[in-house]
Amino acid sequence: MPMDAEYQRLVKNALRDEVTFVKATFSGRRRGYELPWRRVTVRPVLVKGDRYLQVSHLDEKQDYTRNVVGQEAVAEIDALLGLPFSQIHVVTTEGEVQVRISRKGIARISRRRVEEPDDTPSLTHDREKPYLLPGTEPDAMLQARGIQTPDGLIRASKHRKFRQINEFLRLIVETDTLDALPTPIRIVDCGCGSADLTFAAYHYLNHILKHPTEAVGIDVRADLMAKQNAVSAELGWDDLRFEVSRIIAYQPVERPDIVLALHACDTATDEALAQAVRWGARLIFSAPCCHHHLQAQMAEQGRQNALPVAFQPVLRHGILKERMGDLLTDGFRAQILRILGYSTDVVQFISPEHTAKNLMIRAVKATAPGDPQSVAEYHGLADTWHVKPYLAELLAQPLAALGV
Ligand SMILES: C[S@@+](CC[C@H](N)C(=O)[O-])C[C@H]1O[C@@H](n2cnc3c(N)ncnc32)[C@H](O)[C@@H]1O
Repeated sequence: MPMDAEYQRLVKNALRDEVTFVKATFSGRRRGYELPWRRVTVRPVLVKGDRYLQVSHLDEKQDYTRNVVGQEAVAEIDALLGLPFSQIHVVTTEGEVQVRISRKGIARISRRRVEEPDDTPSLTHDREKPYLLPGTEPDAMLQARGIQTPDGLIRASKHRKFRQINEFLRLIVETDTLDALPTPIRIVDCGCGSADLTFAAYHYLNHILKHPTEAVGIDVRADLMAKQNAVSAELGWDDLRFEVSRIIAYQPVERPDIVLALHACDTATDEALAQAVRWGARLIFSAPCCHHHLQAQMAEQGRQNALPVAFQPVLRHGILKERMGDLLTDGFRAQILRILGYSTDVVQFISPEHTAKNLMIRAVKATAPGDPQSVAEYHGLADTWHVKPYLAELLAQPLAALGV
């Protein structure tokens, strides 16, 4: 497959940027070529709350307009870039790009940046929530992670990762607790893996909010930890380290303020939550991944005809039964944190790699442990399903002291 020319990458990136893209116009015909359209314009529109690209093809007589999204939008942009237009004009909130393409396909690109970015264009929800890490200027972290090009553009292939990072940062900031954290803020990221989110959290707190922060990412993968340490060293970020450790065995030198567990597998999430509680972390952000522990107990209860009869219409279907197990696991986790004195909510978290697993359990240490209503609700749920979540096993001692 031929490589995209620089102008094609530039135009694609601009059109895919949900925050800054305003309008693109494809016009003119390269000498010696035929074109079915006089002009094509592309702009973002909201349809029932979802962002689409509206593409209007204008020929001599008529304007053909349709709205596209996802792969269809990608294909549409590719198709437009494959046509022999001689001019492409792209307007974003940060400026304009004018591309003039010669008969031989050689492009001349001129850019004009606006001094004060206009923040009114796009009809997306994201306009209402500007990115915390905008990626509109060269950013050392985004570049070191291969998310941004050296000239400051978000790579098309990394766009979803870029959005995930911003969504993750927004979920942290929304708790409105960061100002109250000590200096330095200490973060432990359990099962950090490829560590984009570890880097993002450290970078955002340290360099954007300017709140001195130390972060340690832990994972059983020695190869990954060595790689992340190399990237951190390259950036000169001494306070961002990576260690090879099982979550349950990790012993932090200082008490962490924030514990992350993002898509840690199965019971690794429970290990991270249990550790966070034992360490007395003030904030916990956990995006659960696969859930097997409770599923096995539910299967056993099924064999003994001990699952709640009222749920038979749901449990009859394998996929619904599995999702019920996932929901119960996360419901139990949130409830246990609540009992232990964390104000806890479960919110949606954009996740490119785990699209079906896009929940985040967000917990802020806030209340006195042992709220009787939370304890009663926990018992009600456990008695209905005759199961014991793994987190309750890990935290048996503190829970027993609270009557669980
Ligand atoms: C799906 S990846 C997620 C990585 C990263 N947190 C993210 O969200 O992109 C899960 C990671 O957890 C690690 N992991 C799984 N169980 C673990 C355990 N018990 N202790 C430490 N790391 C673990 C795996 O090695 C893997 O790198």
